[in-house]
Amino acid sequence: MPISDSMPKSVLLVCLGNICRSPTAEGIMRQRAAIAGLSLKTDSAGTGDWHIGKHPDERAQKHAKQHGYNISKLVARQVGPQDFIDFDLILAMDAQNLADLQLIKQRAEQQFDSKPLARLALMSEVDNSYYKQDVPDPYYGGPEGFEEVIKRLESSVDAWIDSWMI
Ligand code: 4NP
Repeated sequence: MPISDSMPKSVLLVCLGNICRSPTAEGIMRQRAAIAGLSLKTDSAGTGDWHIGKHPDERAQKHAKQHGYNISKLVARQVGPQDFIDFDLILAMDAQNLADLQLIKQRAEQQFDSKPLARLALMSEVDNSYYKQDVPDPYYGGPEGFEEVIKRLESSVDAWIDSWMI
């Protein structure tokens, strides 16, 4: 299938801790983009700094693995203004992540005055099944929360990939 001019070369997936939702989103995006034959740089990061240097939460790793995604080697890092230079598209898992990223984008605008910056959107922005809904934070809940995250992310990743095809 032909690829749209609007397809980004690189996507950064962002949540709060970078140990549950965004590494899972990275694993799903990487695998599904490869299956679709797309050349896409993918990475993930958190708005918070508590888990920098850690691998994904054991529960997130386990649920991802059960669905065929190996995220065990990923390492958490914090998002910053430079990411708006380094990536074409930055996707926020929820409305709070989006608000935090809007502030970081404002800092990037000041720091890198006329350079083009990444487009910022919600993970669910083009997904008719979960349009503009949050990917709920599973950290303080049970296993069903991690399953819900995978279901929503698979749906929204597919919607983004579809949006890049003509
Ligand atoms: P994530 O989940 O944002 O999906 O990685 C969380 C991970 C850690 C915390 C909150 C959410 N925390 O409060 O440490």
